[in-house]
Amino acid sequence: MNAAPEPVVSVLLDPDRAGDSLIDDVRRGLGSHPRTLSPKWLYDDRGSELFDQITKLPDYYPFAAEHEILSEHADEIAAASGASTLIELGSGTSEKSRILLDAFTATGRLQRFSPVDVSEATLRQATEALAERYPGLQVEAVVGDFTLHLAQLPGGDCRTIAFLGSTIGNLYREERAAFLGALSDVLLPGDSLLLGVDLVKSVDRLIAAYHDRDGVTEDFVRNVLHVLNRELGGEIDPGGFSYVPFWDPQMERMDLRLRAEMPQRVRLPGAELDFTLACGEEVRVEISTKFRVSGISAELEEVGLAVRQVWTDREGDFAVLLAGKPAR
Ligand code: SAH
Ligand code: TRP
Repeated sequence: MNAAPEPVVSVLLDPDRAGDSLIDDVRRGLGSHPRTLSPKWLYDDRGSELFDQITKLPDYYPFAAEHEILSEHADEIAAASGASTLIELGSGTSEKSRILLDAFTATGRLQRFSPVDVSEATLRQATEALAERYPGLQVEAVVGDFTLHLAQLPGGDCRTIAFLGSTIGNLYREERAAFLGALSDVLLPGDSLLLGVDLVKSVDRLIAAYHDRDGVTEDFVRNVLHVLNRELGGEIDPGGFSYVPFWDPQMERMDLRLRAEMPQRVRLPGAELDFTLACGEEVRVEISTKFRVSGISAELEEVGLAVRQVWTDREGDFAVLLAGKPAR
């Protein structure tokens, strides 16, 4: 077996998480109505660990549904993509990457895997494990932000960019359009996008998926307050908030909020913020948009990406789409 070079980890993110982007984000978000926070700050080390626990909750169906799709169709996906470089945005622990990598390496064409995530510790761990499991593969990890760094990802003439876990649903509509536009800009004919999206379904099942009995999801959402306290020298009392997840039928998305159970002083010296949340006032921490295959296909078409294939799980809960630039 040819030994591949040692795995490489490049850091594109400001190593100081309280850099300008957190400060700008928090100022803008907490200054708008409803007050909002950006989801990428949920994934510090503790957040990534809690997310990993969420994926194991029986009611959190998206993980199992996408896992089923990838397991059953990985060979077909690998054949349709033909990639020599696989890039994965928001790869986390890379548990699903392995299903793809088994199939993509089996084609004999794949040379390089590039996982991209903001969560550095999780990414480094995953990278070590992948390099060991796939000794012939060049692993080039990127600690980066997929809303900022798409143009700086590894090149190559036949790339597949995977974006799984319905992480695209955590972007707001305008952010999603900007992201898809940027993605289309970096994709060449011959490249492809492998996109996992959670589908619209009954409200009961959606609520169950985001409001587990053991409070793991609640802890995950509340963790953002610990991140703000740590990074911005704050003294927000996370215990003073209750978790309020609800379905927004107009926007077809879960809206995950924290509600102040008594007036809460929010003092964040690092962002020069000091204000009081009224009793009952809410902060939106995350959205999780649910899709219809027709709708997301139209959004892809709009940025010049044609959907070539769609796979769903047996229950029809989740979809994985392969899209690309039409050949010139
Ligand atoms: N793909 C995995 C993990 C999904 S959780 C799965 O399907 O199970 C979302 C992942 O995206 C987390 O690992 C988080 O750290 C990462 N993430 C969130 N926002 C990001 C951003 N702006 N740039 C890069 N990674 C991001
Ligand atoms: N992309 C995942 C989703 O929208 C992220 C996620 C899973 C999540 N569980 C969560 C976000 C709980 C917030 C709260 O399902």
